[in-house]
Amino acid sequence: MNLDLHPLQGCRTLYRWQHGHLEHHLRTLHPQWGERPLTITSQDLASNASFVNYVRHHRLVDPCTGQDLELVEKSIRKVAFIGSQEARFYRARDMLRGSKHFHYPACLGVIETPWESLIFTGFARGKPPRMQAIAKQLALGIAELESLSHRYLSQQPWHKAPLFWSMDFFRPWFLLRPRFNFARCLPELERLAQSDERFNGLADSFKAFEPLLARLGRAARRSPRCISHMDYLRKNLFIDNGQLQLIDWSEVKVGRVGFDGGAYLGALFRRKDMPVFLTARQQFLDAYREALPAGFDTGEALRNLHYMFLLNALFHCLRPETIAEYQEKQRMPVLRQKYDYLLSLL
Ligand SMILES: Nc1ncnc2c1ncn2[C@@H]1O[C@H](COP(=O)(O)OP(=O)(O)OP(=O)(O)O)[C@@H](O)[C@H]1O
Ligand SMILES: [Mg+2]
Repeated sequence: MNLDLHPLQGCRTLYRWQHGHLEHHLRTLHPQWGERPLTITSQDLASNASFVNYVRHHRLVDPCTGQDLELVEKSIRKVAFIGSQEARFYRARDMLRGSKHFHYPACLGVIETPWESLIFTGFARGKPPRMQAIAKQLALGIAELESLSHRYLSQQPWHKAPLFWSMDFFRPWFLLRPRFNFARCLPELERLAQSDERFNGLADSFKAFEPLLARLGRAARRSPRCISHMDYLRKNLFIDNGQLQLIDWSEVKVGRVGFDGGAYLGALFRRKDMPVFLTARQQFLDAYREALPAGFDTGEALRNLHYMFLLNALFHCLRPETIAEYQEKQRMPVLRQKYDYLLSLL
């Protein structure tokens, strides 16, 4: 059985008071297996996110049907018994049912213990895409994700409100993260200007983004809510026969329409030189404008996209690690070009 080709199915969350063995968990998720013997081979997959204990690929034979099963187990540590965003998102993953542009590995179930969340999904096949080459496909997928999740969130009963409230982008536990506060990086830019006159006066110019971002943030806060994945990186996407599969919801938020486009373009801006970025940006925006359902205000979505793009791009281009990297590779003129582009958006 190829789990990743299954349509989205109800993803159950089960609660356990104790750590258990993998085999025990798998039997819990597949009660039809009873006590039939299982042989499982497992392999660790590379993962970096904080709070992730491990990500593992398991292979076994379904003892009832004799078919090969491949699945992925992601273990996420809890802090003070509080579960991760990702595990919370899986409780509502049914919202993605009916998605045509993005495909998602089937969710087999989530097991919650007081110490960790174990998320079991199907194993996705395919190659990591070239991010600039899938701008149009991403635009269609993102517009669809935003529209499906917006509809879902607006139909939720009141008792689910605390769950979505806690996942909202505008909560202080997200907003206070360094990555959304580029101004902390400006002293480093001032220091750079002392040794490299090409960067003279730029820190002052960048300060003008603070009131602009505050304004964009206030407007975004009042705009339509949706689920935003926020982590469009090569390693989180698989392309197989033209189909795009999206994984890794560790950055998921209740965001606003437009945020995911800004997150994608921000990540692309960080990694690519200007010509590649500008071409992909145009392709993305053209396709996204076209794909956004009539119920959304395009101007509002693009303003939110701009907000999220600026938050990401400013932080990544100004942080000391980025400056050091460009210095080391002797690419400071390229960095200066990126700064000029950002400042042209003021
Ligand atoms: N369902 C899946 N199918 C195939 N491979 C997967 C799947 N889930 C995870 N992986 C592989 O494991 C890696 C880590 O998983 P994931 O991205 O969920 O964890 P993470 O800790 O958030 O990682 P990172 O911060 O490095 O993105 C992925 O980049 C991917 O290569
Ligand atoms: Mg990942």
